Amino acid sequence: MIQGNRVHLRAPERSDIPQFVNWLNDSEVIGGLLLSLPLSTAVEENWFDDMLKRPPEEHPMVIEFQDGGGWFAVGNCGFHNVDWRSRSAEVGIFIGEKAHWNRGIGTEAMQLLLKHGFQTLNLNRISLEVFDNNPRAIRCYEKAGFIHEGRKRQAIYKNGQYVDVLFMSVIRSDWSE
Ligand SMILES: CC(C)(COP(=O)(O)OP(=O)(O)OC[C@H]1O[C@@H](n2cnc3c(N)ncnc32)[C@H](O)[C@@H]1OP(=O)(O)O)[C@@H](O)C(=O)NCCC(=O)NCCS
Repeated sequence: MIQGNRVHLRAPERSDIPQFVNWLNDSEVIGGLLLSLPLSTAVEENWFDDMLKRPPEEHPMVIEFQDGGGWFAVGNCGFHNVDWRSRSAEVGIFIGEKAHWNRGIGTEAMQLLLKHGFQTLNLNRISLEVFDNNPRAIRCYEKAGFIHEGRKRQAIYKNGQYVDVLFMSVIRSDWSE
């Protein structure tokens, strides 16, 4: 468990799969993601089994939020493309519970991922890609400390239009807890 104030990150369980399928079939949630097609439970079960074969550092983590009584799952985040020679990795995140957008949960989850990446995994560079038409995500990443470093023009075709993809990163020397 990676513990924050209002947010913690825990390992995903097979029993989370129905929740993941539910979130990832919401067109608003996947608007900022590469997913475009309806997602079945069987496909998500395959994804889960493949995920378990990946290095443990690349396993996604469930974002849980403490609200009143207890902790409940609101989304998913994690590292991918970890390169141990360059000590770099990419991050991804989604909050599937739309009622909990704009409450600082994404920012706190990203801050926890950065701390984990730098202080536990000993990474030197953590980066991400975000669609230019996703101002909520861009603002969230800026608040967590990500720096803009580039733009790939019209790199994605999504919902009937070409969208620029922005590159953002945090270098270990940029970062302060
Ligand atoms: C992107 C995402 C992870 C952000 O998490 P979140 O908990 O909603 O984000 P936060 O509340 O920490 O921060 C959002 C910020 O964006 C701001 N914001 C929201 N909509 C905005 C808009 N249209 N224009 C500008 N800023 C906006 C919020 O006001 C907030 O900033 P503030 O705290 O300065 O007021 C979450 O909304 C999500 O999962 N969205 C769907 C999937 C997705 O797009 N994932 C990212 C793929 S790169």
